[in-house]
Amino acid sequence: MSALLSVENLRVSFPTHRGRVEVVKGVSFELGRERLGIVGESGSGKSMTGRSILKLIHKPGLVTADRMEFDGVDLRSQSEKQMRAIRGARISMVMQDPKFSLNPVMTVGEQIAEALVTHEKLPRREVNERILAMLEAVRINDPTRVAGLYPHEVSGGMGQRVMIAMMLIPSPELLIADEPTSALDVSVQAQVLDIIDDLVTTKGMGLILISHDLNLVSRYCDRILVMNSGVVVEECAAGQLERATHPYTRGLLAAMPVLNEQREELPVLDRTQWAGT
Ligand SMILES: Nc1ncnc2c1ncn2[C@@H]1O[C@H](COP(=O)(O)OP(=O)(O)OP(=O)(O)O)[C@@H](O)[C@H]1O
Ligand SMILES: [Mg+2]
Repeated sequence: MSALLSVENLRVSFPTHRGRVEVVKGVSFELGRERLGIVGESGSGKSMTGRSILKLIHKPGLVTADRMEFDGVDLRSQSEKQMRAIRGARISMVMQDPKFSLNPVMTVGEQIAEALVTHEKLPRREVNERILAMLEAVRINDPTRVAGLYPHEVSGGMGQRVMIAMMLIPSPELLIADEPTSALDVSVQAQVLDIIDDLVTTKGMGLILISHDLNLVSRYCDRILVMNSGVVVEECAAGQLERATHPYTRGLLAAMPVLNEQREELPVLDRTQWAGT
């Protein structure tokens, strides 16, 4: 099977007062219809790698690669117009901060509709049906009501689900999810990732999940790239992570909380003393 995406020697640089600084320094990887995790600490170049694929790095940022191919298409030579036909329709990206990605003056339903009709001409009734079905797929109860809300009227977790609905409604072949749940509390985080996982698996899509959380990436991905200072320092199957050899990966592993770790029992709060006051 040929790869869905191949990236070879990807470099991203920005000018600074000390001259050009490379923030991605020769990253290479291949992706099939599988779930690839990119993990690494803040500033390691994860988002820049994800954004480069969609050509979302603007001047004065500079992106070069020996190869950047998506399903036989050389992304490097695509014009901005050609990229607009790929973005959303074939490759979607859930951005790190959904607050900046949702339009504050459009209802949730209108925004999801726009994501759909930009790429497909459909009768209005069908558009409405697909929006409600998509909102249900991201487990929003009462989709009819939520479709009529504005972004400031939905909670953080719901906003992130709306983003995922927008990104998935045109059925892309590849989803790049950049810290899609970092702003959420742990229980909602798991729900949102389960939804992404479910949709990716049933639609047979490729997924790039970007996160600083090794635990999370190893749970939701088949393969993992570990990045540090703009370089891939380790690449392995999620199941082989314990055998990772790079000192940076070993450090991340050592910092990971263990589920059945023995900890001192936390004291139970005595609430009776407040009762009735
Ligand atoms: N417009 C810019 N100009 C200069 N440097 C930039 C610019 N955008 C990003 N960088 C630098 O590029 C490096 C990589 O950034 P990137 O956003 O890819 O990190 P990241 O791994 O996604 O981190 P985080 O986990 O915090 O999201 C950082 O050191 C950042 O400061
Ligand atoms: Mg980032």
